Amino acid sequence: DPKAPISVDPFQTVAKELKFLTGNIRQLLGSGHPTLDTVAKYYTQSEGKYVRPMLVLLMSRATALTPNMSRESSPLSVNRPITSPSVLSDENPSAPDAEYPSVASLSNDTAYLSGDSDILPSQRRLAEITELIHTASLLHDDVIDHSTSRRSAPSANIEFGNKMAVLAGDFLLGRASVGLARLRDPEVTELLATVIANLVEGEFMQLKNTASDERNPVWTENTLTYYIQKTYLKSASLISKSCRAAAILGGSSQEVVEASYQYGKNLGLAFQLVDDMLDYTISGEELGKPAGADLELGLATAPLLFAWKDNKSLGKLVGRKFSEPGDVQKARDIVAESSGLEQTRALAQEYVDKAIQSIAFFPDSDAKTGLVEMCTKVMERRK
Ligand code: FPP
Ligand code: MG
Ligand code: MG
Repeated sequence: DPKAPISVDPFQTVAKELKFLTGNIRQLLGSGHPTLDTVAKYYTQSEGKYVRPMLVLLMSRATALTPNMSRESSPLSVNRPITSPSVLSDENPSAPDAEYPSVASLSNDTAYLSGDSDILPSQRRLAEITELIHTASLLHDDVIDHSTSRRSAPSANIEFGNKMAVLAGDFLLGRASVGLARLRDPEVTELLATVIANLVEGEFMQLKNTASDERNPVWTENTLTYYIQKTYLKSASLISKSCRAAAILGGSSQEVVEASYQYGKNLGLAFQLVDDMLDYTISGEELGKPAGADLELGLATAPLLFAWKDNKSLGKLVGRKFSEPGDVQKARDIVAESSGLEQTRALAQEYVDKAIQSIAFFPDSDAKTGLVEMCTKVMERRK
């Protein structure tokens, strides 16, 4: 809603909730083994951006104000189809068809029960779970990418070695699963379990630059479709499905659940497009992680794909994953001369506009304004 005031800082809107987040996450990650305890909590020491928890909390608050009577109740069937693991159908998870009693058995968490919030205990726990899954993926990602820094500190693989970084990631996923199980909501469990599978599917798609992985690939419309599909799985799946889960835990109507999902999907796609742009435009020092890493890793992201459309000589370099001496610099120069970065920004803006459109019918609130502001922040961010 362009008329909505833009004076709301999304971080401030949920500042109180976020204050408990890191402590609760550290509690969820406690282990009797001192080394595992240290490695598992390593990325909780540096300040993350908390994008995903913030979105879950804002969405929980924004959807609390929407009418919630129209969720149809039908008998719970254990045999109903699970969300399809198929890559292509995954942008449209099977519509939930049953309402489950949500027994959020978190009564031992007194910090949650101050009673003065419209955000449910289960939704706060969901916010923590999303950050756990995200952090697990970063632990694994830094091993896969041979990364040396994260959040302006040595990455976990450098500090503790690959084996411990991988195992710590697995441990985080285990604890995230325990947290999910305790929400006692099978639909939400299914959504977040699918996210974990999607992250791996996205990473696998990324290992190949094009669907066919030819040596001299040609640019087709499918090149972008493949990239967007990969981007959905790698980045937008977690954001979209956790926004959806937040609305489900709040007992929202089917229409609101779907709108929450669409908001998260479009914002998530924009978020990664901007990420891929910053890899070209911002220094490693400012990013807090290595810059220009994608080409070095052989990855053709949106700025290069747009440049390739106008400069077919890039195909050869894409095919050999920028592996020959001078390839990375050559590709960088061609991208710099092209409109690839502008086109990437424009596409991100389109997605952000769609995200705002998806929740336009939500009643006005600070939380809704915060969700709209998150869109602006994603477009303006430099790290
Ligand atoms: C960051 O991307 C990484 C991801 C968004 C997901 C990576 C997924 C895996 C490694 C699969 C394993 C998943 C789990 C849940 C353990 P990036 O490398 O483009 O960003 P960066 O610049 O921050 O490193
Ligand atoms: Mg990486
Ligand atoms: Mg990566």
